[in-house]
Amino acid sequence: MSKASIVVVSSGVSQPSSTRLLADRLAQAVHDELAARGRQADVRVVEVRELAHEVVNMTLTGYAAAPLAEAQAALAAADGVIAVTPVFTAGAAGIFKAFLDVLDTTALAGTPVLLGATGGTSRHSLVLEYGVRPVFTYLHADVVPTSVFAATDDWAEDVDDVKSLPDRIRRAATELADRIAAKAPTRRAGLFDDVPSFGELLGG
Ligand SMILES: Cc1cc2nc3c(=O)[nH]c(=O)nc-3n(C[C@H](O)[C@H](O)[C@H](O)COP(=O)(O)O)c2cc1C
Repeated sequence: MSKASIVVVSSGVSQPSSTRLLADRLAQAVHDELAARGRQADVRVVEVRELAHEVVNMTLTGYAAAPLAEAQAALAAADGVIAVTPVFTAGAAGIFKAFLDVLDTTALAGTPVLLGATGGTSRHSLVLEYGVRPVFTYLHADVVPTSVFAATDDWAEDVDDVKSLPDRIRRAATELADRIAAKAPTRRAGLFDDVPSFGELLGG
């Protein structure tokens, strides 16, 4: 069976970025869950900060420059998406929303998606539910029930809680892997799509 294509959208602005750290943990967990189901995965990370200027340009002109168009094509062809944003001023980061605004509205239709966010305080964890999930619902994505919010305190290693960050990551990754494994692999347009088969050539 073909490898599952996982595209990770990470919208952190710091370097190093806690958003990227969460995105990488989620991607590793999904990769491992798929491996446990006998399915290999290719993981590609889209760093929105690197495309931020192109996103603004597309917002103003409607034209996607090559790196942005390539990221958009990867998303449209993905078998699963992990989308992670920092919380800024009680909402998703502006560049994350702007990136979604210039995505074709059909690009994620039916695609399994796992949502994540980082923030300074867990009091803002519901941003994912009231601010981010509705956007993906509008895009007709297949969003898994568990979204993962990591506040600064969650990164402490001595968190000994049944709902600790590693547990939440594992649970969300299981949900995404289940959905990807349940779906037939995405058929991607290939070079030889228009070439007739031997049977057709022989008139069969
Ligand atoms: C301008 C700004 C606004 C922020 N607003 C919030 C907020 O409303 N709630 C919150 O929990 N964290 C807030 N934070 C903290 C960031 O969400 C947190 O540091 C995040 O993990 C940064 O992600 P990064 O390291 O990937 O850039 C804010 C940070 C900045 C710079």
